[in-house]
Amino acid sequence: MYPLIRPRRLRSSEAIRSLVRETIILPSDFLVPLFVVEGKDIKEEIPSMPNYYRLSLDNLTKEVKELWKMGLHSVLLFVKVPDSLKDNKGSEALNENGLMQLAIKTVKDACPEMLVMTDVALDPYSSYGHDGIVTDGQILNDESVEVLAEMSVSHAKAGADLVAPSDMMDGRIISIREALEDEGFLNTGIMAYSAKYASSFYGPFRDALDSAPVDIKNVPKDKSSYQMDYANRFEAIRETQLDIDEGADIVMVKPGLCYLDIVREIKNEVDVPVAVYQVSGEYAMVKAAAEKGWLNHDAVVMEQLTAIKRAGANIIASYFAKDAIRILG
Ligand code: PBG
Repeated sequence: MYPLIRPRRLRSSEAIRSLVRETIILPSDFLVPLFVVEGKDIKEEIPSMPNYYRLSLDNLTKEVKELWKMGLHSVLLFVKVPDSLKDNKGSEALNENGLMQLAIKTVKDACPEMLVMTDVALDPYSSYGHDGIVTDGQILNDESVEVLAEMSVSHAKAGADLVAPSDMMDGRIISIREALEDEGFLNTGIMAYSAKYASSFYGPFRDALDSAPVDIKNVPKDKSSYQMDYANRFEAIRETQLDIDEGADIVMVKPGLCYLDIVREIKNEVDVPVAVYQVSGEYAMVKAAAEKGWLNHDAVVMEQLTAIKRAGANIIASYFAKDAIRILG
């Protein structure tokens, strides 16, 4: 008795493997996160994110020109705000000449066709490191949403193509959409972090922006009253559906690798593009293991990115974008 069906035939050479390959990583899959700081001529490596940097505006110009040449045409901007400008309401977020607003203009000046998305959340601006206003040990929802809507309008005025609220407050998508429409920004899109889990994989990012929740009395120690419980699946679909109903153009699942079941499930449910954020801790793990010689860096990077796309990601926000372009050759 011999097997009549031999799946190995389709694996017998690289030519046939490439012919039947289902998932291919392309430069156009990527959204590149960038960290911006005040100052001049600054390119500081983030200790927990080897080979990833905080950039001052002059270096941001250089970076986006390089990205554009590499075929990376979408960026997601984050800013590191000095402590002296932080308060409970994130007032600095609304400063028309604030770092985010200047960063948006800098990217558009350097590279007018680059697609610019901006992080909309209070945490980099919050003296407590939370994504909302803190009162009596609680994160206020509706008051925070008001600030997020104003912040979105301010980013749109500066030239952002899409705003990306990463806060997980209830009802923020509809409030942001209405605020944008009221101000005439009909074509400014919203990429909603819809299924964003309360994850320990965000640690290196919080180092990068100095945005971790502070450890003081009457301030929640973590973000579990607004980010999702990682034990939950149905809730992710509900959150995503709500964001779509409220007007999200793109929805996102975050983090990546541990949540690919959620990605597939959402991809099967919705008809808008699905983004996945392969987060800072995922980046740090691969870099650390590769530094020790325990993993083959390039091979593991491509395996992970391909798995994310295979799970259903239309867009991958990843710190490995430049690595991937190099690897793809
Ligand atoms: C902030 C924000 C976070 C990330 C993106 N936007 C951190 C957090 O929610 O605490 C994490 C990204 C990463 O870890 O790479 N609202």
